[in-house]
Amino acid sequence: MKNPKRYLVTSALPYANGPLHLGHIAGAYLPADIYVRYLKLKGEDVAFICGSDEHGVPITLRARKEGVSPQDIVDKYHEMIKNSFAELGIAFDIYHRTSDPLHHETASAFFKEMNEKGEFIEKEEEQFFDEQEQQFLADRYIIGTCPKCGFENAYGDQCEKCGTSLSPKELINPKSTLSGNPPILKTTKHWYLDLEKYQHEWLEKWIDSHKSDWKANVYGQCKSWLNSGLQPRAVTRDLDWGVPVPLPNSEGKVLYVWFDAPIGYISATKAWAKENGKNWKDYWQSDDSRLIHFIGKDNIVFHCLIFPAMLKAHGDYILPDNVPANEFLNLEGEKLSTSRNWAVWIHEYLKRQRFYMEGFPDPQ
Ligand code: MF3
Ligand code: ZN
Repeated sequence: MKNPKRYLVTSALPYANGPLHLGHIAGAYLPADIYVRYLKLKGEDVAFICGSDEHGVPITLRARKEGVSPQDIVDKYHEMIKNSFAELGIAFDIYHRTSDPLHHETASAFFKEMNEKGEFIEKEEEQFFDEQEQQFLADRYIIGTCPKCGFENAYGDQCEKCGTSLSPKELINPKSTLSGNPPILKTTKHWYLDLEKYQHEWLEKWIDSHKSDWKANVYGQCKSWLNSGLQPRAVTRDLDWGVPVPLPNSEGKVLYVWFDAPIGYISATKAWAKENGKNWKDYWQSDDSRLIHFIGKDNIVFHCLIFPAMLKAHGDYILPDNVPANEFLNLEGEKLSTSRNWAVWIHEYLKRQRFYMEGFPDPQ
């Protein structure tokens, strides 16, 4: 786009289930911060948006393990992450959070609007259920052997070893991570986004139109998803932590974290606009605005296919102009990972850096 009037720059909302590590910074935050500083030096109108992603199964797992509530977990890590960014000098215009009531309202309303437009497919389906814990198992609660590479601790949604995205039924010898037992299949109702329809209507054409201005790794990954054919995706889950499904008879169901989290960019922009006398709609719903998402490469499908599909299905919103995604940072040949505790942690790095610069206080 030539000469946009304003820029909306987002960095992926970090999960508030662990501290930041160097991989996060290198992937989605430092490049965005540099870009935003450049734009601001040029005198451009920019909103630089981020916040904590506070829903999803890993947070509930961590809470369960530590014997505290999910809110306790996200309160702790939200503070810690927010402080790390501030100390590093990553200068967001707002650092919001998805457990904020404004976000719950925004995500609920977004879902309702899509539902009223008839954009969802409602489907009853068999899903894994842990009989001992009397609970449906979200994809991440199930581990088993990856059918592609044989890795034994693959999650039900993705094998972290080979990166393949999976559905839990593809796992060999699936086990519940709650009880350790093999789960049974039980029927439950969910709402699906019809990605197959969008692919044929416009999504494929739109991605093709970015062949030359998006990074080759981003465009290539989108094409490979499209080539294998998009399938309808459930945007709700049986879980008690998240944004409740705002419809009658849906107790115990919440919006899938990957449905609500990108809407977090919108909620955060609303909060920022309110504090700064701006109109959030200028940034999200005006054709002379340029939307740019900085992310790590594991987020490509969500930012290039699924979130744009949501924005378009809802109507009124602009689509991202570019989605610069970076490769993973490796440490001794292994991808940095919070869940595997393999990282250079930012809060530790900052303590050491202070120590070397000042000789005190003690880095411990
Ligand atoms: N929390 C996700 C991650 O760390 C990123 C969420 S980005 C958003 O991989 F768009 F969903 F907010
Ligand atoms: Zn694998």
